[in-house]
This record gives sequence, structure tokens and C-alpha cells, in this order.
Amino acid sequence: MTQLHVSNHPLVKHKLTLLRDKNTDSKKFRELVKEIAILLAYEATADLSTAMAPIETPLAPMEGVRVKETIGLVPILRAGLGLVDGVWEMMPSAEVWHIGLFRDERTLRPVEYYNKLPVSPTVDVCLVLDPMLATGGSAIATVDILKRWGAHRIKFMGVIAAPEGVAAFTKAHPDVPIFVAAVDDHLNENGYIVPGLGDAGDRQFGTA
Ligand code: PRP
Ligand code: URA
Repeated sequence: MTQLHVSNHPLVKHKLTLLRDKNTDSKKFRELVKEIAILLAYEATADLSTAMAPIETPLAPMEGVRVKETIGLVPILRAGLGLVDGVWEMMPSAEVWHIGLFRDERTLRPVEYYNKLPVSPTVDVCLVLDPMLATGGSAIATVDILKRWGAHRIKFMGVIAAPEGVAAFTKAHPDVPIFVAAVDDHLNENGYIVPGLGDAGDRQFGTA
């Protein structure tokens, strides 16, 4: 079974094109990240288990359906924050745990600086959120942390991946599915995804 899911939805493609455009300002960029997050969350949660839920409509009793599994959102700071609101609107009871990592600009290796996980896992599924899967180092390190902590069912949701990042991540964590809007061409010498969208954190937060 392939663990890489690239959205084929026309709305995702349309919004991603606007997101990539260098003329898109920070406000619009944040709106688009949120909207893409909603659309990707729909795809990333398609296999959640459900249970029957008896209810009464104004006209008759019926067997409804509710989501049985509990979900934890794990945004990788900073840029992963932008994906939280959209997903959270769809799953308001999800818990949110922040992991802080930045890429050392020289080595491109992730450096951990923040971890707000509770003592032990309290949910069935962890959804790791980060718009960019470049070398894959940050996502791999986050899933390493979650597995050491005891999480069993983990998914990664991002916006753009590089083929190099997909290969590294799949090698390190073959059990963790990847949901993205696009897989781009390559990484440049600075570890940026080409054509990509530039620096996702800087574009969201208006930092240079
Ligand atoms: C970016 C991005 C990912 C990481 C991807 O974060 O949001 O976390 O780079 O690169 P990788 O796959 O090679 O690890 P960055 O380190 O720039 O930090 P920021 O989110 O605080 O801007
Ligand atoms: N981080 C980003 O924000 N953009 C890239 O292209 C690679 C890593």
C-alpha cells in the first residue's frame, strides 16, 4: 500500500498555486494555508473508525454515525501552526501539542527547542502538521519523538514535499502515511524546495 497521498482536488491545486505566488501577501498566505489544511484534513482522516450513534431528528429516531477515534494535532513550530486552525475547525475536540524544531541553516539538521507533549499519549491518532517536507529531517525527528513517547498511529500532513524528503521519511517511518498537496521537483543547495513557495514560516509570520 502506498503511504504517499498527493491531493488531486482542483480546489487544493488552485489554492496551492495562489500560495506559491511570490506576490501573495502574508494575510492571504495565512488564509490559504488554513483553507488547504481543511481540504487536506478531509483526505487525511478518511479512514478514521466510526461508531453507530442513535439520535432523534425532529421527524424520527435514526442510527447516526460518529467518529470513534480521538485525535491529537502535533504542529511543528513555527510554520506548522498555520495548519492548526483549519484542521481544528473540522475536529474541535482534538488536543493540540506543540513540538518546536528549527533547521540548523548550515547542517540542515533539526534542532529541538520545545516539547509540550503530556506524560503519555491520550489519543488514538496523532496528526503531525508542517507545511514543508524538505530534507524530511524535522518530520522524521518529530515522529521519532512521538514513537518514543508511545504513539502508535501517526500521520503526517503537509503542503509541499520534496522527493528527497519523501524518500527519507518513508525509509525512516514506513508505517506513517504522508498527505500533501504536491510533491515538487527537487531541493536546492540550501535545502529549499524548488519550485516550492519559499520559506513557509517567514511568509506566514511576515518575517524576512
Ligand atoms: C521549515 C519547515 C519545516 C522544515 C522542513 O521550518 O516548516 O519544519 O523547515 O525542512 P526539513 O524537512 O529539511 O527538516 P524551519 O526550520 O525553517 O523553522 P520555522 O518553521 O520556525 O520557520
Ligand atoms: N522550509 C521552508 O520553509 N521551505 C522550504 O522550501 C524548505 C524548508
